[in-house]
Amino acid sequence: MSSAVITGIGELVTCDGTGGDQLGIRLDAAVVVEDDMIAWIGGAAAAPAADTALDVGGRAIIPGFVDSHSHLVFAGDRATEFAARMTGRPYDGGGIGVTVAATRAAGDDELRQLLAARIAELRALGTTTIEIKSGYGLTVAHEVRSLQIARQFSNETTFLGGHVVPPEYAARREAYVDLVTGPMLEAAAPHARWIDVFCEPHSPHAFDGDEARHILKAGAAVGLGLRVHGNQLGHGPGVQLAAELGAASVDHCTYLDDADVEALAAVADTTVATLLPGVEFCTHSPYPNAARLLAAGASIALATDCNPGTCYSSSMPWVISLAVREMGLDPAQALFAATAGSAQSLRRTDIGRLVVGSRADLAVLDAPSYLHLAYRPGVPIAKALPAFAETPAE
Ligand code: NIG
Ligand code: FE
Repeated sequence: MSSAVITGIGELVTCDGTGGDQLGIRLDAAVVVEDDMIAWIGGAAAAPAADTALDVGGRAIIPGFVDSHSHLVFAGDRATEFAARMTGRPYDGGGIGVTVAATRAAGDDELRQLLAARIAELRALGTTTIEIKSGYGLTVAHEVRSLQIARQFSNETTFLGGHVVPPEYAARREAYVDLVTGPMLEAAAPHARWIDVFCEPHSPHAFDGDEARHILKAGAAVGLGLRVHGNQLGHGPGVQLAAELGAASVDHCTYLDDADVEALAAVADTTVATLLPGVEFCTHSPYPNAARLLAAGASIALATDCNPGTCYSSSMPWVISLAVREMGLDPAQALFAATAGSAQSLRRTDIGRLVVGSRADLAVLDAPSYLHLAYRPGVPIAKALPAFAETPAE
């Protein structure tokens, strides 16, 4: 066992749920880490000795960000599609096929290296847990390959065979749903913790409510937890379906009516509304009203959705600044959603907050206060403390 004592902390943001803002901020605090766990938190003057000491020079320490929604296993990019969208072309999910073709054509080592570089990028921006979806393979072998590569970097892997109907099945949708719920699921499940589906009747490429229900139920039957892409391109059945099936998370929630907000409030202990403001930014879509969700009693999370189509950014600080500027959250609500809220969406109690016994997933800010996350948009002030990053079990 090795231990380290961290001192010189300008502001320790624990996100432990206490205080009027739930951030549990402590001044003059020190933290002792033993291996990858937090062993002690208290006043700096009373800090016990440890094997090593780290003085962070008055900087703020926060829980590492929990990015609970990403599509990081892909090759190629879609910069020209993005440029066209900025001058008016709408997003309908059709570009996913471009990334599927590029990903299928990539070698295993190339895909692994691309993913490793993206993981390094997000850690350098303060993220310590990353959920990674498949969904750019869409054959049994390519979905399994994507999940196996993702598992080398995170235990939070998600089977997204139900991303879109691939071109070779365009005239045979039912056959593709049979594949996803049959042999593909069987092969993918050992490498995944979650199953997700792009439930979006507004996209000709994605799945309607009945197809999505069938896919999610098949995943639940083999023990996978449920996540849903819902209500991204227009009002649709995704949110209600997630609530009905007890999904851990319904993500996007761009278009919500009163009944959706009520449903999310009613299942706040089970189902988190994960908001992805980088997607609204990069697709010229309206931002959902996060303050309304909180006022109604819903649980919310913030994540990047990092992917080559709708948001090619791995920056949780940028997501926080967008949520504060565009979604009605105050900086404390946004930070809580990006840490403890996202942890809830992954049904994890060991991350997203800094308490004795939790994982020592720390991020240090090159600033005295968490307020600078929203106050300094686009400036890379957050960094994961390298010694304490989550490493996958297998
Ligand atoms: O979360 N909406 C579906 N999937 C991704 C986009 C994937 C892509 O366009 O490549 C999303 O926005
Ligand atoms: Fe997504």
